[in-house]
Amino acid sequence: MAEALLSLPQSNHPDLLVGFNTADDAGVYRISDTQALVQTVDFFPPIVDDPYFFGQIAAANALSDVFAMGGRPLTALNIVGFPLGKLPIAVLTEILRGGAEKITEAGAVVVGGHSIKDSELKYGVAVTGIIDTDKIVTNAGAKVGDCLFLTKPLGTGLITTGIKRNAVSRELSDLVIRTMAALNQTAAELMMKHGAHAATDITGYGMLGHSYEMAAGSRVALRIFSRALPLLPDVLALAAAGMIPGGAKDNRAFLDGKVTLSHGLDQNLEHVLFDPQTSGGLLIAVPPENAEALKVDLQTHGLPHQQVGVAEELKQFHLIVE
Ligand code: CO
Ligand code: CO
Repeated sequence: MAEALLSLPQSNHPDLLVGFNTADDAGVYRISDTQALVQTVDFFPPIVDDPYFFGQIAAANALSDVFAMGGRPLTALNIVGFPLGKLPIAVLTEILRGGAEKITEAGAVVVGGHSIKDSELKYGVAVTGIIDTDKIVTNAGAKVGDCLFLTKPLGTGLITTGIKRNAVSRELSDLVIRTMAALNQTAAELMMKHGAHAATDITGYGMLGHSYEMAAGSRVALRIFSRALPLLPDVLALAAAGMIPGGAKDNRAFLDGKVTLSHGLDQNLEHVLFDPQTSGGLLIAVPPENAEALKVDLQTHGLPHQQVGVAEELKQFHLIVE
């Protein structure tokens, strides 16, 4: 969409605090001296077979863009494309039930929605949240010296591809569903508590694509400690077995010439770095003096807590992977 928007005039309004020109997760619009709305929308075809869990995952994924900016979700609108006559309506009921549960868990309210007849099933949510104007966290605020944390393990694209090819155990399938359906709410609360300079959620562009956007938006370089990245079980083996989702190729092509990968980087780990994620974790940049406290809090809440990188002065590349 960024490409399609290029030729159009930029939305320019004094109250538009964050628009689409910074590749940020959600738009932010000021409604008073102290408060702003955070708005986002996301929808996609099923990535898991179970409609109830698909609903949960799609809603968690959409809510995530509000959390990534430090916002509090208020209201949600369902967006549905449904192949009437091809699928029983009970499928849609299950999707909406899963979605509603996650929206409620996030403290928001479903206020309505819209459905169209579509050849392919699609579901997603438009979310409106609220934020104090002095507490907005964008992907463009990282500063040299900031420590990076990632709050969910990587590899959802490899595993869901493996599920489609019957190459994944029931246990792992259940685990990846739980991971994708988990809200980024706690991670967002902790990043706010510890004064994060920048954050974004890791989704379709993968770990490196979203890291690149943060680095470029913040005019710094991000050095990623690839061996410290949290991974879902078996993802390296799935990469070795060729369970690479289609989107990984696009992610690699997009970053061609923009990232330097250290020699001797494990090939399979490299696949994970480009792996498109659904409802991934928050990538958080905190000042170094707050890193230890954030780490302890993440650990206490059972979230991945290893430091996964550092922001450095920009030289040649926005991204350095070691
Ligand atoms: Co996002
Ligand atoms: Co999104």
